[in-house]
Amino acid sequence: MPSGPPRRRVAVIGTGAIVSGGHLPALRSHAGRLDLVAAVDVDETRLRAFRDAAGADVAGYTSTDAMLDAVRPDLVLIGTPPSLHREQTVAALESGAWVLCEKPLCLSLAEYDEIAEAEKASGAHASVVFQHRYGSGAVHARELITSGELGAPLVAHCQTTWHRDADYYAVPWRGRWATEGGGPTMGHGIHQFDLLLHLLGPWTEIRAMAARLVHDTEGEDVSTALVRFANGALATVVNSVLSPDEVSRIRVDCADATVELTHLYGHRNDDWVYTPAPHVPAGRAAAWRTPAADVPSSHTAQLGALLDAYDNGVRPPGGGADARATLELAAALYKSAFTGQPVHAGEIAPGDPYHRAMHGDHPHWAPKERA
Ligand SMILES: NC(=O)c1ccc[n+]([C@@H]2O[C@H](COP(=O)([O-])OP(=O)(O)OC[C@H]3O[C@@H](n4cnc5c(N)ncnc54)[C@H](O)[C@@H]3O)[C@@H](O)[C@H]2O)c1
Repeated sequence: MPSGPPRRRVAVIGTGAIVSGGHLPALRSHAGRLDLVAAVDVDETRLRAFRDAAGADVAGYTSTDAMLDAVRPDLVLIGTPPSLHREQTVAALESGAWVLCEKPLCLSLAEYDEIAEAEKASGAHASVVFQHRYGSGAVHARELITSGELGAPLVAHCQTTWHRDADYYAVPWRGRWATEGGGPTMGHGIHQFDLLLHLLGPWTEIRAMAARLVHDTEGEDVSTALVRFANGALATVVNSVLSPDEVSRIRVDCADATVELTHLYGHRNDDWVYTPAPHVPAGRAAAWRTPAADVPSSHTAQLGALLDAYDNGVRPPGGGADARATLELAAALYKSAFTGQPVHAGEIAPGDPYHRAMHGDHPHWAPKERA
């Protein structure tokens, strides 16, 4: 009998909220293709609770290096605070493991370049969790837009208007440049503008503003931007943690239809609405509805795509240039907000302060505080 692809031996680093709530259900859903063999956390209470919840024979470690040496996993899932992502991703790649790391993949383009070097040296791949790309509604919308079925994309809005209170920012790693990499641009809106880039392709120019209006943080608590895309489309992007009526929204007006996604932390097929332009015959528009199979956007859907790539020996989606493009848009948004100047794609190169850090030369300032 022909044997299928090997089962992958998986380890998790960090056993907090997202690993327990997002990655563990994903691992369970793909139990036929993998074995969860190890977990790492410096907090032994969390580690024990995670291993109990995982319910299988999962070895526990308080050191990433000790785990990598002893276990040699095929795949490492990282869900630690953002300032640890680069170091842990590089260590896992150097041990030969593939990596699926929580957003943001790292804190700067300079850190990204180190990850890319480690990938090259090891032959293993790193990818970043942006689960909203993988729901069936997003897959279908991207096919319709990139195939030209909806006509040329012209105008877009990308909105992450969420609400976070002081208790949320009491967690020590949040709201600090050195540990979170920024405010809602890096921590919250990055999901939505990653999906916008996935739908519209490369951007060419950004003009941005940001402010710290409410929270006692180092970075912004709201940012806004105008973005020009290589295909000519113009978009607005809003990233806020100050918005009592929370919503995540992407709307793209194409020549023949408006496609609009409205959700909060995850989408299903019914969250995508297509509105035809008046000149479009009803029969053509009826075919745009997302097909019946409803795959919610989730860690489960993204892990499945990664395992498929592993089995086929190809770079996983959400890695390489894809991961860099989203980080570059964040860096460019900050550079434009701090300098008051437009920023063009490709201009933030090594030697540019915004290549080294999202805050450039402004170590502890908000981009523009309320007067
Ligand atoms: N994809 C999503 O929708 C989503 C949602 C929430 C959070 N996140 C991301 O997930 C990451 C973690 O967020 P969270 O809310 O789960 O945080 P959390 O604080 O709940 O969990 C982080 C865990 O990492 C552990 N840890 C800290 N230092 C460590 C080290 N050196 N080695 C091993 N473990 C260590 C902590 O003890 C903790 O258990 C962040 O990057 C965040 O942006 C993603």
